[in-house]
Amino acid sequence: ETPAEARGDAGRARRPADHAALPEVIPAAWAEGRAPVLGEGPLDAALMLVGEQPGDEEDRGGRPFIGPAGRLLDRALVEAGIDRAACYVTNAVKHFKYVQRGPRRLHQTPDAGDIAHYRPFLMREIVHVAPGLLVAMGATAAQALLGRKVGIMKLRGQVLSGPGGMPILLTVHPSFLLRLPDPEAKRAEYAHFVQDLGAALRWVP
Ligand code: URA
Repeated sequence: ETPAEARGDAGRARRPADHAALPEVIPAAWAEGRAPVLGEGPLDAALMLVGEQPGDEEDRGGRPFIGPAGRLLDRALVEAGIDRAACYVTNAVKHFKYVQRGPRRLHQTPDAGDIAHYRPFLMREIVHVAPGLLVAMGATAAQALLGRKVGIMKLRGQVLSGPGGMPILLTVHPSFLLRLPDPEAKRAEYAHFVQDLGAALRWVP
């Protein structure tokens, strides 16, 4: 019998309480040591676009919104009259959360623990960039920015008050549009998304 077993704490790592809690809140990707995908864009951008988390292509390329959802976002921004290069583009969660299925890495929606883990990083970006308007694309971004769950479909197009009173325009996530099976619904929702993004121009010069 070892001294630890004699004390009745065999097998329990002797770590501080906060460290012991980490494995439950750290997403697997973080623990695996993959590089986070950070935001990009001018640090004095007037508009900050916030997505959910990097996807497969973003994880490989190390930049936000460069995959299929990013290409749709690019198109919608052009149609809304917004220059992506002038925006700061980031995500609520900085790692790709997925399950491996054969050769494919299938997206998993981040949970409240993932959002809470990355929230301080997102808040630092906001403080640094201090945009005139935040655009929350999808439920995860909205939850991260507002600190609570909101119904995107009901509130989209509206501007709510976020951290430090900063205005947040809510809209859907471009991946939502990609997943719509009906071409007619897709077209209508895309037009609505462009309209939502266009509302941002009323808030920034
Ligand atoms: N979806 C996101 O939310 N962010 C990305 O960077 C890519 C896809």
